Amino acid sequence: MKVLVIGSGGREHALVWKIRQSPQVTQLYCAPGNAGIGTLAELVDIAPDNVVALRQFAQQEGIDLTVVGPEISLSLGLVDDFEAHGLRVFGPNRQAAQLEASKAFSKELMQQIGVPTAAFGIFTDLDEAQSYLRKTGAPVVVKADGLAAGKGVSVCTTVEEALAAVEKIMGERVFGDAGNRVVIEELLTGEEASFLAFTDGTTVLPLASSQDHKRIFDHDCGPNTGGMGAYSPAPVVTPELAERVVQEIMLPTIQELRRRGIIYKGILYAGLMIDGDRVNVVEFNARFGDPECQPLMFRLQSDLVEVMEAVIDERLAKVSLVWDARPAVCVVLAAEGYPGTYTTGHIISGLEALQSWKNGMVFHAGTVRAQDAVLTKGGRVLGVTAAGTSIHDAIAEAYTAVDKIAWPGMQYRRDIGQRALNR
Ligand code: AMP
Ligand code: GLY
Repeated sequence: MKVLVIGSGGREHALVWKIRQSPQVTQLYCAPGNAGIGTLAELVDIAPDNVVALRQFAQQEGIDLTVVGPEISLSLGLVDDFEAHGLRVFGPNRQAAQLEASKAFSKELMQQIGVPTAAFGIFTDLDEAQSYLRKTGAPVVVKADGLAAGKGVSVCTTVEEALAAVEKIMGERVFGDAGNRVVIEELLTGEEASFLAFTDGTTVLPLASSQDHKRIFDHDCGPNTGGMGAYSPAPVVTPELAERVVQEIMLPTIQELRRRGIIYKGILYAGLMIDGDRVNVVEFNARFGDPECQPLMFRLQSDLVEVMEAVIDERLAKVSLVWDARPAVCVVLAAEGYPGTYTTGHIISGLEALQSWKNGMVFHAGTVRAQDAVLTKGGRVLGVTAAGTSIHDAIAEAYTAVDKIAWPGMQYRRDIGQRALNR
């Protein structure tokens, strides 16, 4: 079986690593990939937003299964295009992916069916948004409606900050058309967790729980990032809570989509805010989380290709997942300046020493191979992922590996997994 994975982050390296373990796979490609992925799959130089070129490649090579990593491909309708040409592809189609691509769409859907989420207003006019803010006051959360690579959300402690955030989105239009609308939300408090599930549009099959670390600095300080580290399982998601999330959030959501004629197939990811018994949905994503995907794939023992095929063929009800009982932790190593402007092209040292690491794996994100060296090429550069007999051991194992890796300006959080330890 020939498989193509689309994307170039730590998420895609973890997916490629897992897919490579499937006995069904004979050839594996990744577009565009990175230096780490290049050791496991043939790299294809096509960007995730070039839907037509990707589909033509899949047709020429006779690809049997395409796995979509990033949201951009989904929101551009890659799945619709591939399916229209008779190709098998894992991921939601364009209409289904609106759950992530439009915050207004997902908030209105949740409100309609009573899925708990922060109170909100949606605005298409800058002045109206700002006078609403002056009325409601702070703290408040301001969000661009569309995709903004995790940067379209501002958690504002003052009205001035919130007014400036709206001005940035709708006045300066720093996120382009993603800022045609803003969503203004009540601030939720509690502990966040990532709840990912496979779904074929009828059945919901949850993955193990996980938790991300969104802020750039230790103790959740500084601006939001794509994610600075993750671990699985997340003790805050008890088995009872997981069952409630399936019954009260995931199933009603895919059922409402189906009622509208939209069959959601792929990964549905609910970002949760948990406060005692109260669970709110902060956002939906239409794909695997990154970095959450890294500890999750490290722990998954089932054949990922088999599960993805069951999703496509709508026979997920017959599938169950097997997990390594050991917790896993991923520490993201990022470039100096990230999530703002950062430099690239630094030589990364220490990777060879970790090539035969037994309890972990260094997943690559923003890297590129140049002759004999691996260079930095992105904001998030590596995801150092390790398992241990306890969360404590997994954290120790991951940071021991982190200590071996270096490049000028490398930054990372030193408190990944602390919340799980504290429980
Ligand atoms: P989103 O892209 O909607 O997930 O927002 C990114 C991050 O902003 C979330 O993971 C939260 O940390 C934070 N956030 C978003 N909405 C809220 C909210 N209503 N209350 C508190 N924090 C929020
Ligand atoms: N780690 C958060 C996300 O993938 O959206």
